[in-house]
Amino acid sequence: MAHSTLTFRIQPGGKLQGELRVPGDKSVSHRSIMMGAIAEGVTEVSGFLSAEDCLSTIQAFRQMGVRIEGPEAGHVRIHGVGLHGLTGSEAPLDLGNSGTSMRLLSGLLSGQAFDSVLFGDESLNRRPMKRVTEPLKSMGAVIDTTNAGTAPLHIHGGQRLHGIAYDMPVASAQVKSCLLLAGLYADGETRVREPAPTRDHTERMLTGFGYPWRRDGDWIALSSGGSLRGTQIDVPSDISSAAFFLVGASIAPGSDVLLRHVGMNPTRTGVIDILRLMGAELEVLNARIIGGEPVADIRVRSRPLHGIVIPEHLVPLSIDEFPALFVAAACAEGETVLTGAEELRVKESDRIQVMADGLSALGIEANPTPDGIRIRGGQLGGGAIVSHGDHRIAMSFAISALRAQGEVVVRDCRNVATSFPGFVDLAAGLGLAITAADETAP
Ligand code: S3P
Repeated sequence: MAHSTLTFRIQPGGKLQGELRVPGDKSVSHRSIMMGAIAEGVTEVSGFLSAEDCLSTIQAFRQMGVRIEGPEAGHVRIHGVGLHGLTGSEAPLDLGNSGTSMRLLSGLLSGQAFDSVLFGDESLNRRPMKRVTEPLKSMGAVIDTTNAGTAPLHIHGGQRLHGIAYDMPVASAQVKSCLLLAGLYADGETRVREPAPTRDHTERMLTGFGYPWRRDGDWIALSSGGSLRGTQIDVPSDISSAAFFLVGASIAPGSDVLLRHVGMNPTRTGVIDILRLMGAELEVLNARIIGGEPVADIRVRSRPLHGIVIPEHLVPLSIDEFPALFVAAACAEGETVLTGAEELRVKESDRIQVMADGLSALGIEANPTPDGIRIRGGQLGGGAIVSHGDHRIAMSFAISALRAQGEVVVRDCRNVATSFPGFVDLAAGLGLAITAADETAP
């Protein structure tokens, strides 16, 4: 049956010029609500990302009895209830498209006195949850999943958790953060080892809320018994949203863009390293620390890019930016090779397959491998792209039109609102010839 979907139509060519501040960091915004809710006293957040994923987190805590004002112009005020002040929600918690909400909340809620049920949309209900439920069970949590290990998750409260030492098989900040949040409620010490550095916003924010934790080599540890104190959080712009313009301005001749107030946490800046290795010209200006997180302005001017073999250690540091980076690879001279990135197959969509299909539809040679892709740069034609409801796929192909020969049509773009409200207007303001409208898919 034909159905109507939000469709982007982008006319080919053009360049990006001007200045902008992209919306707030998604990872930091989620964590500000979670920690603010279980802190004592009030937490004031500015620069909050008012996107659907973060609104799902706010709604979940409201259902658990937390008073949260806003978001209004990026400002949120959370009236913390303390570590033991949450109350169970009668209704299941609908976390929409948000993997971060589900994985971090599963840890936080395993230590509560009440039961919780967590579910999401079609994409989230397909994503692997055993990576969190298995270690949580070994801490004493009781959680039901589907036979496939997916949501809905039914978390049985009233369990006594105990700390574990967990050597994570995947480099995942969501798993790390889940276990640290469970550790706030577990007897003894909870220790997590990451096989490679991943985003450390949870650790930095624990410090901001006055909760002690320690790093011992690649182990991160905390003990229960402390408390979080309400604080102020200034959320930087999301480098993952900035990435579309870093790539767009790099590939479109004549572009010159200044991105302001971008979060530059070193566990997130792999996209800058990778683009520079490909020959991009990115200038980091006015570097500063705001609220415990590095922030800077980034000026991007277009340069011819060349293909590279992407160093594997950069993969966790740019995990959400690969759809955009694949577009850069498609516009680069020669071949780009990515390995060690099997995690991309279990994001909001299978980002290796979906990007390979979309690039191929535009006439680019893109060969998926089990843990990565090989992309040979070339001339992009025009064509229709199925984004599979994945926000980052939709925005990446929108940007690709800057180097296409014909119109690029991207269907199923509604979920751009999960991470980047206002994308179409901001992109158009910089010069992308994009329109968005509900259309009936053929
Ligand atoms: C996130 C961690 C990453 C990332 C996601 C946000 C976080 O997921 O892809 O968009 O906020 O902790 P993994 O930890 O599964 O790699």
